[in-house]
Amino acid sequence: MSIDTLTIPTQCVTESRITQLDYNNIEFGKIFSDHMLVADYKEGQWQTPQILPYGNMSLSPATSALHYGQAIFEGMKAYRDAEGDILLFRPLDNFRRLNISAERMCMPAVSEDIFMQGLEQLLRLDAAWVPPTAGCALYIRPFMFATDDFIGVRPSSNYRFTIFSCPVGAYYGQPLRVAIESQYVRSAEGGAGFAKAAGNYGAALLPARKMQEKGYHQLIWTDAREHKYIEESGTMNVMFVIDGKLITPQVSTTILAGITRESVLQLARDMGYGVEERQVSVDELMEAHKAGKLQEAFGTGTAATIAQIATIHYQGTDYDLPAIEGRKISNGIAVALDQIKTGQAPDQHGWVYRISL
Ligand code: COI
Repeated sequence: MSIDTLTIPTQCVTESRITQLDYNNIEFGKIFSDHMLVADYKEGQWQTPQILPYGNMSLSPATSALHYGQAIFEGMKAYRDAEGDILLFRPLDNFRRLNISAERMCMPAVSEDIFMQGLEQLLRLDAAWVPPTAGCALYIRPFMFATDDFIGVRPSSNYRFTIFSCPVGAYYGQPLRVAIESQYVRSAEGGAGFAKAAGNYGAALLPARKMQEKGYHQLIWTDAREHKYIEESGTMNVMFVIDGKLITPQVSTTILAGITRESVLQLARDMGYGVEERQVSVDELMEAHKAGKLQEAFGTGTAATIAQIATIHYQGTDYDLPAIEGRKISNGIAVALDQIKTGQAPDQHGWVYRISL
């Protein structure tokens, strides 16, 4: 199927649910827009996708994704510009990363036509769900899962790829208290930590809950071998400003290659800041804090955007960081990134995919 010829059969809702949406009070991930894209993979190829009213799916209890975790996802956002057009932020990067995850999880690649045309047609149909409100966006969730009804352990022969969306506000409503994890492990070298695989998130829930019970919003993962080096935080990559330089762990097989992460690093370079992608040890952070050189810490992610970290906990001690208002680098980049995403600043890196209505 070529990008010019793919036409997606569409079944529209009889009545939109958009009246249920209060644009000024949007909670993350609770209300879903009217339609979803569904494409099935059978007999070695993707079948013609369909756009359907958002709704439940009927699954066999033996659906293999539910047992063995062949399930991957992406997260991306759409914004509305001053003319009312829809601006998608780096959707092709999400498409590429989905297929990197698919390869690691032994799943078929989704075609660019299905992903991009499906996305565009879905967004045209649900355009009214892209919030015009500052600080809000339409969060888009492409995902794929194995659909064989078979409980032997083997790669499934059948898959479903779906895209649905939900209007969202902030993922984290306040500056974060995070704790450095030195017992549990998210990912080891050679594992699937770089993939956006559902199981990576499921396995993180218990350690995260234990930290939450101690009063922290999220944890910061450390390496599996020594618990010595910083990896990423719950739903985000993590960055630090030490002595004026922006420093973040380099991506590896254990760390998700965040699209927001990469955008933030690019903007920091554009603004002339020193940027280092390298191992960051917990000791380095502690020493920088002691010397008064740990100036900023924050997470980056599609859902989280730029989430400021107020406090880092390590081995029984809370280390409070400088006031958020004074964080020149992360606050400056957050504003610049938001302006690009919403069409208020020139898109010098070709990150924005415009859907003119
Ligand atoms: C995202 O930032 O898009 C994520 O996928 C993180 C989370 C909501 C699971």
